[in-house]
Amino acid sequence: MRQRFFFLFVLAAVLVSCSGDKVKYRIGISQCSNDIWRDKQNAELRMGTYFHDNVELKFAAAYDSDERQVEQIDSLVNNGIDLLIVAPNQVQTISPAIDRAYDKGIPVIVFERKTNSQKYTAFISADNYEMGRVMGEYIVSRLHGQGTVLEVKGLEGSSPAIERHNGFMDAVNKAPGIEVVASLQGDWTEPTAYETTQQWLANNKDVHVDLVFGANDRTAMGARNALGKDVLYCGIDGLPSENGGIQLVRDSLLDASYIYPTHGDQIIDLAIRILDGKPYDKETMLMSALVTRDNAKVLLMENEEIMRQTVQLDSLHKKADTYQHKLDTQRIINWLALGIIVLLVVVFVLFYLYHLRKIALQRERVVNTLWNLKPEEVPVASEPTATSDESDSSEASDNTYDNEPVAVSHFIASFKEVIEARLEDSNVSVEDLAADMNLSRVQLYRKVKAVTGSSPVELLRTARLNRAYQLLLTTDKSVSEVAYAVGFTAPSYFTKCFKEEYGMVPGDVRK
Ligand code: FRU
Repeated sequence: MRQRFFFLFVLAAVLVSCSGDKVKYRIGISQCSNDIWRDKQNAELRMGTYFHDNVELKFAAAYDSDERQVEQIDSLVNNGIDLLIVAPNQVQTISPAIDRAYDKGIPVIVFERKTNSQKYTAFISADNYEMGRVMGEYIVSRLHGQGTVLEVKGLEGSSPAIERHNGFMDAVNKAPGIEVVASLQGDWTEPTAYETTQQWLANNKDVHVDLVFGANDRTAMGARNALGKDVLYCGIDGLPSENGGIQLVRDSLLDASYIYPTHGDQIIDLAIRILDGKPYDKETMLMSALVTRDNAKVLLMENEEIMRQTVQLDSLHKKADTYQHKLDTQRIINWLALGIIVLLVVVFVLFYLYHLRKIALQRERVVNTLWNLKPEEVPVASEPTATSDESDSSEASDNTYDNEPVAVSHFIASFKEVIEARLEDSNVSVEDLAADMNLSRVQLYRKVKAVTGSSPVELLRTARLNRAYQLLLTTDKSVSEVAYAVGFTAPSYFTKCFKEEYGMVPGDVRK
């Protein structure tokens, strides 16, 4: 039972020590959408954690639904996060959920899309107004200040849609030769842009369009699917990935795009700075740049190099991860081995103690039995030399008695006889008893102790008390008389010893 408990204790200690690298920070990420721009950013967010220990990311994607995003933010917060990173779908609708998180003391990083509240810890984004404005200026110059432009906006109520539109309008309004024939409402997705443009086209067959400005590249491509290749298309996002804006520009499907930086790793760095209590910028503006046919190829080449290094970094991380796992496993094995060794040692010690106790009990039983035999009942020894051999004063001689029961019996029987002959004598000493046994005091002590586990004085006292018990039972002698008869000089001391031995006072024997 005790052993099983100990084993459980060792196991628990091992498990506790192995649970080792505890998560330090849980970061919730609430993405408003799910698309190639978000995919790239999520990958960067994950990679950002490679450089920080014990950071766990919990992702939630709302697929452009306000209700879903509100629910997801609340659930992230309720499940326990240390920091929230959020791209709010629309300015108005998501703010209350973000405020709730902030009011609970959770730091909030709003990125890329804004809220209408001041309850956030930091904001990180590129400048959407500036991007719209620069794109507007590009469009004016691309059309040499003369032409018609159709705008397809981003999701109504989302801050980048509003700001890009404002920047674009401010730029084109400065060019009197440019006419914006319509500003259609999109929602960042290609299918919606396609349908809206189709509908507009159906009602405006006679309106000529030179160029379409889509609020993002997907929107521009949706409009292209509706209007065809004879129109110029400009978008925003400029992703370097397959079918991303840079490739579309290089392949002349888009005329221009604008890099809308994702920078997930930078967002994680900001989060960790906040969590570590280090200084950080409350507002971070990310750099971005126009993508045209002039620089698209170079940008793609550069991106290829970045991707190559990213793949290497990723595989390095995986290797480090595998190595870490191996180390963890090794640590568990080491702890288990140590636990087993400790367990074995404890089992061995317990077994040894148990064995010693068993031997002691056995010896006690043997001695008790022999002590109660009459001399004629003691077994006859073939060589009864052990009791009288004066040279037997060493450890070896003690063992002799352990190993030779017959010799032991005789020794005990002789000693019992000597004691019984002398126990009435209150002046008898251990030296006297030893002399009667033809031994020195030390020899007697060693032999008696080795054989019986008790000292000669203890045995003398036990014999006196045994005799007293008999006298109390079989005679009418008073307690004091009995005490004197068995060699005690003080009846009160006799009573004390008697009580220790039998758990009752001498008077009780008669009752
Ligand atoms: C990605 C995206 C981008 C766009 C941005 C605006 O989800 O739609 O295409 O530039 O969000 O917030």
